[in-house]
Amino acid sequence: MRFDVLTLFPGMFTGPLSESILKRAIQAGRISVVLHDIRAYATDRHRTTDDAPYGGGAGMVMKPEPLAACIRAVLAMTDNDTGESAPKPPVILMTPDGEPFTQRIAAELATCPRLVLVCGRYEGVDERVRAALIDRELSIGDYVLTGGELAAMVVIDAVARLVPGVIDAESAAEESFSDGLLEYPQYTRPAVWEGREVPPVLVSGHHGEVAQWRRRERLRRTLERRPDLLARAVLTDADRAYLRTLGWRVPVAGGADDGTRIATDRDGADDGTRIATDRDG
Ligand code: 6GU
Repeated sequence: MRFDVLTLFPGMFTGPLSESILKRAIQAGRISVVLHDIRAYATDRHRTTDDAPYGGGAGMVMKPEPLAACIRAVLAMTDNDTGESAPKPPVILMTPDGEPFTQRIAAELATCPRLVLVCGRYEGVDERVRAALIDRELSIGDYVLTGGELAAMVVIDAVARLVPGVIDAESAAEESFSDGLLEYPQYTRPAVWEGREVPPVLVSGHHGEVAQWRRRERLRRTLERRPDLLARAVLTDADRAYLRTLGWRVPVAGGADDGTRIATDRDGADDGTRIATDRDG
């Protein structure tokens, strides 16, 4: 899989791409990341890439011409992997007003042979470039970053690890969010550390009991920390019965609310910040 990244700060990517799993995936040829410096497409003497907003106001806006020229040049490039007949890759703008990025979107993007990621900077990108050349807009959460670079790295990381062979298949299938529940707690040696023991069931050798304990820990954790996820999780009758012993109330079918907060919102101070976690259907 190939990622083309359009940025004013290509140097920001060198650290994350040259360590650990992403480094190995690149070395193994499973993914490639091609960085494109938007400034190289500015044509004036000062290589200007931003300008003041029409109508006034604070900050600077990314100018349309260099960004559009960069996107078009990248779309005209092919490589040996994708070939001349490859379909046009999606052009994705990283912006805080984009669609919230989720594991579901990561899995969807991992099926593409190529992605073009555009990193927005300054107060934004000229809206006409968005209309003309951007297929999709993604945000990584409800907070503001100085630019789309860190967000693009998050997307590359989350997508790359779903590319076959980058991590082992079991880890990808078992982890949090792939089935809508948080993970169970993990322990390794020593069996007693600073007076704290490993749960005895894990050293019992009873595989069935270990599996049941882990499942229940996942349910308990999800109810405590992310009750909103339970509405969309795949649950068995046994799961529901266990959750009810923890005070979970079965969500009302067709209700706008997930119905899970009654038992778990200990502080009652719902500031509305969860809205963004619930949009991916
Ligand atoms: Cl994609 N960009 C910026 N600048 N801030 C963000 C973001 C993206 N996602 C969350 N905050």
